[in-house]
Amino acid sequence: MGSELMAKETKISMAVIRRLPKYHRYLGELLRKDIDRISSKELSERIGFTASQIRQDLNCFGDFGQQGYGYNVKDLYNQIGKILGLDKEYKTVIVGAGNIGQAVANYSKFERLGFHLQAIFDKNPKLIGIKIRDIEVKDVEYLDTYLKENPTDIGIICVPKEQAQSIADIMVRNGIKGIWNFAPTDLVVPDDVIVENVHLSESLMILSYRLNESNLFKE
Ligand code: NAI
Repeated sequence: MGSELMAKETKISMAVIRRLPKYHRYLGELLRKDIDRISSKELSERIGFTASQIRQDLNCFGDFGQQGYGYNVKDLYNQIGKILGLDKEYKTVIVGAGNIGQAVANYSKFERLGFHLQAIFDKNPKLIGIKIRDIEVKDVEYLDTYLKENPTDIGIICVPKEQAQSIADIMVRNGIKGIWNFAPTDLVVPDDVIVENVHLSESLMILSYRLNESNLFKE
C-alpha cells in the first residue's frame, strides 16, 4: 500500500463508501464459492450497479481491474475490508438490553467482522443479571466506571430517545470514538466522535414512498 493509494483513499466520497459494504458482501460470497476473478460486467449483473459505476467506484482506491482479466476477488475483498477498517478489532458495549439491544447482542456475525461485544448495560432490575450470549447484563450505574477501566471503541445505544444523550455523554467522556445510535434522536457529540444512526423506520418510509410512487400499492 503506497502513499499514493492512501492519498487516493482520503478522497473517496461518502457516496462511494456507502456502496463498499455491498461490494464487500458480494465479494465475500464469491470467495466462499471459490471464484477468484470477476469482470466488472459479471459483478454488475450480481450486484445491480452498472459496470461503469463499479469501474468508477473501484478505481477510486487503486488499479485493481486488469483489461481482459477483471478483478482479483480476494485482493479486492481484502482491500475493501481494509478501507472499511474491517482488518481491525473493535471493543463494543451495548446500552439498553430491550428488544433492539438484545437483537443486536444476539447477532453473532458482528463478531466475525471484528466487532467484539464486551458488555451490556441496562437500568431495569429484571434485566440486570440475565445473560445474552454469555454476557451478563450489568447495571447502567456502572457504565462510567466500566468504561474507565475497560477502554472501549464503539458504544451501541439502544435506550429510549429521552435517555440517549445522557448515555452518549458518558460514552464520550470515557473516550468512546464511535457511536452506533439506534435511538431516534440526533445526538450532540464533539467533532472527534463519529455517530452512525440506524433508523429502520426511515428505511420503511422509503419503502412506503416507493410502493406508492410506483402505484403498486392498492388500498
Ligand atoms: P425497549 O423498551 O425494548 O428497550 C429499551 C431498554 O432500554 C429497556 O430495557 C430499558 O430498561 C433500557 N433503558 C432505559 N433507560 C435506560 C438508561 N438510562 N440506561 C440503560 N438502559 C436504559 O425498546 P426497544 O424497542 O429495544 O427500542 C430501543 C430504542 O431503539 C428506542 O429508542 C427506540 O425508539 C429505538 N428503535 C430504533 C429502531 C431503529 O430502527 N433504529 C427500531 C425500533 C426501535
